Amino acid sequence: MDIYSKLLKPFLFLLPPEPAHRLAVAGLRLTPSPVLRWAFGSMPSDPVKLFGLNFPNRVGLGAGMDKDARALPAWEALGFGFIEAGTVTALPQPGNPKPRCFRHPEQRALVNRMGFNNAGADAVAKRLARLKASGHWPRVPVGINIGKSKVTPNREAASDYVASFRLLQPYGDFFTINVSSPNTPELRALQAGESLSRIVRAVRMVDGGKPVLVKISPDLSESQIEEIAGVSMQEGIAGLIATNTTLDQTSLPSAVRRAGGLSGAPLSERATEVVKSLRRQTSLPIIASGGVMSAEDARKKIEAGANLVQIYTGFVYSGPAIIRSISVELSRIKTRIDHLIAV
Ligand SMILES: Cc1cc2nc3c(=O)[nH]c(=O)nc-3n(C[C@H](O)[C@H](O)[C@H](O)COP(=O)(O)O)c2cc1C
Repeated sequence: MDIYSKLLKPFLFLLPPEPAHRLAVAGLRLTPSPVLRWAFGSMPSDPVKLFGLNFPNRVGLGAGMDKDARALPAWEALGFGFIEAGTVTALPQPGNPKPRCFRHPEQRALVNRMGFNNAGADAVAKRLARLKASGHWPRVPVGINIGKSKVTPNREAASDYVASFRLLQPYGDFFTINVSSPNTPELRALQAGESLSRIVRAVRMVDGGKPVLVKISPDLSESQIEEIAGVSMQEGIAGLIATNTTLDQTSLPSAVRRAGGLSGAPLSERATEVVKSLRRQTSLPIIASGGVMSAEDARKKIEAGANLVQIYTGFVYSGPAIIRSISVELSRIKTRIDHLIAV
């Protein structure tokens, strides 16, 4: 029986999205990992090595689900092949006024304008240190997604990212420079070549040799994508995450459109286009994020040139069962993928 769809989701969907999310994460944190593993976590083995890390399968948890890294062992126990915590910013910040997350079940979509609510790099580093010391650190790669603090102007962005990197560097297996959230004013301007180069160079001085990825927006033009691919290769970026949420809400009825980024099914095709476009420009590893709502969506991302996939909205609508169904599909087409992907 699919416990999530039959029991948990009907209850969680009675609550507004943010309290439902808080309750779900608290529940995961309090449930012993062996119980989660028994209930949800049996995955086919589909190991892949990328940027020096061993991923037991190709399905990861997208950033934003566990911003403060509260439940890392639980995500591994559910079967994720990797986890991306964050976005973490140098300064703790409350995010935008509530409500700031909205469900659109008919479109299988979410709109959010959370605005990087998080406990700040120092508090998250301390939590991660405690987890390391406890012996419960996940055995799957853990990425930490880093964003710019809202109060820091773009001209000082590089030092803001560096401040977070210094504190978090000992803990992440890989790091993501997030320059693509639509909910921090002007953040996306940092995707432009010169700004991105400056941030990447500054961060790479303190990354301790750990892989650094860049997460990009789906709302870029072809020439902007080309520029980012060029800068990434030039500056020694380990990989790209495509994509974050979109500002294009034309898939929603006009009466319900609102400020924020759209995720889920309506984003899928555009995000796949961005993966295709990046793959034409670069052989760097690509993690596909955006509208992976089914095993078939995941297969399309891999066929477009992605090496790994991440889910957020698909997990909200389908629960842990989607991890297994994607993982089964990707391991089924493995020989074909390995042939397709040049790493
Ligand atoms: C409520 C919510 C919060 C998010 N927070 C973050 C975040 O803090 N950092 C980030 O890089 N992406 C964040 N995202 C974007 C997701 O990681 C993902 O890139 C995007 O939702 C597209 O994937 P999906 O269609 O599978 O949800 C968030 C998405 C949602 C729905």
